[in-house]
Amino acid sequence: MTATTGETAPPKAIAAQGLRKAYGEKVVLDGIDLSVVPGTVFALLGPNGAGKTTTVQILSTLISHDGGTAEIAGHDLDRHPDAVRDSIGVTGQFAAVDGLLTAEENMLLIADLLHLDRAEGKRRAAELLERFEIADVARKPAATFSGGMRRKLDLAMTLVGRPSVIFLDEPTTGLDPRSRRTMWDLIRDLVAGGTTIFLTTQYLEEADQLADRIAVLDDGRIVAEGTAEELKRRIPGGHIRLRFNDIHHLNAATDRLALSTVTRDDDELTLQVPSDGSIPVLRAVLDVLEGSGIQAEALTVHTPDLDDVFLALTGQDRRTVAVGTAVGTAVKEAQR
Ligand SMILES: Nc1ncnc2c1ncn2[C@@H]1O[C@H](COP(=O)(O)OP(=O)(O)OP(=O)(O)O)[C@@H](O)[C@H]1O
Ligand SMILES: [Mg+2]
Repeated sequence: MTATTGETAPPKAIAAQGLRKAYGEKVVLDGIDLSVVPGTVFALLGPNGAGKTTTVQILSTLISHDGGTAEIAGHDLDRHPDAVRDSIGVTGQFAAVDGLLTAEENMLLIADLLHLDRAEGKRRAAELLERFEIADVARKPAATFSGGMRRKLDLAMTLVGRPSVIFLDEPTTGLDPRSRRTMWDLIRDLVAGGTTIFLTTQYLEEADQLADRIAVLDDGRIVAEGTAEELKRRIPGGHIRLRFNDIHHLNAATDRLALSTVTRDDDELTLQVPSDGSIPVLRAVLDVLEGSGIQAEALTVHTPDLDDVFLALTGQDRRTVAVGTAVGTAVKEAQR
């Protein structure tokens, strides 16, 4: 164990500073910092090629890094990689299950690798297969399993060694909504038991549902970090969208509601008015329209979600993140 130099705060489950990794000329991680509190879920979100798997591989000692430092469960990644390995479990992006072996044999193989004695290994395997509801197919070759069952077996294998920190690289990719929810429940159970989960995902809803904190990785850099709510607040995106059936109504509505913050689309005959999704703002918009005899054909209320965060912060669709201030002011001023 690394000493905590007399501090009362327990060590972070994961603490990384300035992690860097390049393959030749290609910089994959350009100095990333991470801090994960024990017993929480941390989600690393990012588009394809952002560097998520690379981060997981570095933190789980599977590949080396070129710069920066990291501690996992209080153990220095470079100086005590064996201690790190003893503390963690990793479920990779592609299941590590051997299809020729049965579920039980896959579990016992891991128990052997971890040098559990045979009886303890069998007991642990049976307990986990039961908990993951795959006990009834424990004697069937894993090759006959569905994708969801394979993922569950993969996670069960990760848990044989009772790791305190678990890395899950896209744990629910390819799962149907029901299997995804089962996986989420399993993850929540683990966290309730004190385990720390570091997961990567491209499913924003997954991060929203599970994660205590989220970091958005783009092109090797962390471009935002916070709770789901904090990230949503950082970006514009909440609006009321009005659709009209002719350009005259669109023009009239633009005149009455217009300030620099409304966005109109002449082809679609729509107008977007910034809104926090609250009823007073909605009512104010409707009052303005009604008071001016303007008829809208359709109205939808859009509250910002993690999709907006993702699109605003990553890749080609990067937009300016400076707006979002004048929620409702357009409406208030238009009423004057
Ligand atoms: N062994 C390697 N040699 C060269 N380049 C690599 C290697 N491994 C990864 N890369 C590159 O590093 C970048 C990040 O890859 P990584 O697998 O970490 O992305 P990711 O965020 O996990 O993407 P995905 O969502 O597709 O899983 C990519 O551009 C990839 O091509
Ligand atoms: Mg990946």
